[in-house]
Amino acid sequence: IKVLFVTSEMAPLIKTGGLADVSGALPAALRELNVDVRVLLPGYPQVMAKMGPSEVVATFDNLPGFPPSRLLFTVMNNGVPLLVLDCPALYRRDGGPYMDPVTGHDWIDNPIRFGLLSKIAAMLGSHDNPLSWHPDLVHGNDWQTGLTGVYLSEAAGAVPNIITIHNLAFQGNFRPKKVELLHLPEACFNVNGVELYGNMSFLKGGLYYAYHITTVSPNYAQEIQGDELGFGLQGLLRSRSEDVTGILNGIDTDEWNPETDRHLPSHFSVARMAGKGQNKEALQRRMGLEVNSDVPLLGVVSRLTHQKGLDLLLEIAPRLLELPVQLVILGSGEASMQKIASDLAQSYPGKIAVMIGFDEALSHQIEAGIDMFVMPSRFEPCGLNQFYSQRYGTPPIVHRTGGLADSVVDCNADTLRDGTASGFVFSGMTTENLFATIQRAIEVYRDERKWKALRKNCMSKDFTWQTSAKSYQSVYRKVLGRT
Ligand code: ADP
Ligand code: GLC
Repeated sequence: IKVLFVTSEMAPLIKTGGLADVSGALPAALRELNVDVRVLLPGYPQVMAKMGPSEVVATFDNLPGFPPSRLLFTVMNNGVPLLVLDCPALYRRDGGPYMDPVTGHDWIDNPIRFGLLSKIAAMLGSHDNPLSWHPDLVHGNDWQTGLTGVYLSEAAGAVPNIITIHNLAFQGNFRPKKVELLHLPEACFNVNGVELYGNMSFLKGGLYYAYHITTVSPNYAQEIQGDELGFGLQGLLRSRSEDVTGILNGIDTDEWNPETDRHLPSHFSVARMAGKGQNKEALQRRMGLEVNSDVPLLGVVSRLTHQKGLDLLLEIAPRLLELPVQLVILGSGEASMQKIASDLAQSYPGKIAVMIGFDEALSHQIEAGIDMFVMPSRFEPCGLNQFYSQRYGTPPIVHRTGGLADSVVDCNADTLRDGTASGFVFSGMTTENLFATIQRAIEVYRDERKWKALRKNCMSKDFTWQTSAKSYQSVYRKVLGRT
């Protein structure tokens, strides 16, 4: 099977969140199953700088509605072939892939920027493909690829397409006049099409036209069909229930390996845990925390947004610090949350340390050096840090939602006995519940035997991509009628 995998970010070239981690690892895992996957990614400056030598394989000078662009071809270090969509007018600018750092808002031409990504994906999946390689199926991700199916719907020789939802909260909703600007078929501005409450919606189009829809955990696949987490698309998703599959993400176990991680001062494994203590000490030093091996060190690596529920943690921080604990936070996002976190670090030096920004190396050092990872997300399609935490012997404390519910087993007498306990899970998004769960975790931490057993369970779990990649392969087969 030949698959064009379309994404707006991919580690290690460009990353704002988990989509990059998935795009950086899943295609390689699929290739190991002999699926011929090629990735299509916009040519942001970071990508152009890091991608290595490439060749021009196609040019698009006269696409109505879009500036000139071209496709560059290269092969990644992990063997994954990459098509970079180079369009200087749309992608070559300083700042993030989605956001203008000057205004702090989304780039105003995002509809055209990701309209082009969808358009080129559709061309490659139809008779308009100028390459010698022709996919059997186009696999898009999130709203940025949502119009692929719409363009394919009127293309000659169109192949089937599927879309993976990584976050239903981001939909790419714009004014209706964009339908014309993007040269979409007029008829698609319809409830049976891209129309959503009077706007045109990239994601709605994606979900409506895709042959199949996947999302990144089985639990989230159910949740998005309900009113609470359906973000206005629950009706459509319910009506397509048969075509919605939840496939739990894996992680890149080479990139996240405590035995070899190049970002860590000391390495460790389930059989040799001494290195974990050394990482704790190094982290405490680096972050200006009191160096103390005994005090439980809690940590966070996250986008600081409403989704992640960290407002709850920040609210209870003063109370928490009456207990013997330390807290380290790495994140960036909403200005108000950044300020509250930074102010806390000022007020409690040596006990709370905060780093605002995006820092790959530090994120690994935190996972390795802390004792417990805090992830009280309001909703979480899958989440990756709870996997990294478990692999690094750091039991996560999580809200029972989305992929967190699917991947963390609450620690209690039964689960300790049967060896499945791997963290602490709370239901009900309140400060009280979070506080009580952290207290519960600290009690277990104080019981050396239980804590050892818990850490061992965490580190023995299998989070490789193999199983998930097989599930994607089954979806491809099903869509292509090759079961
Ligand atoms: P989401 O994609 O919703 O942000 P995930 O848990 O799926 O959540 O993935 C987040 C990814 O981004 C993880 O790899 C995490 O380590 C990383 N990350 C988030 N914030 C930062 C940061 N400030 N610095 C470094 N890495 C970060
Ligand atoms: C999104 C979700 C996150 C998920 C990631 C990768 O960013 O918020 O839960 O892990 O995509 O699928």
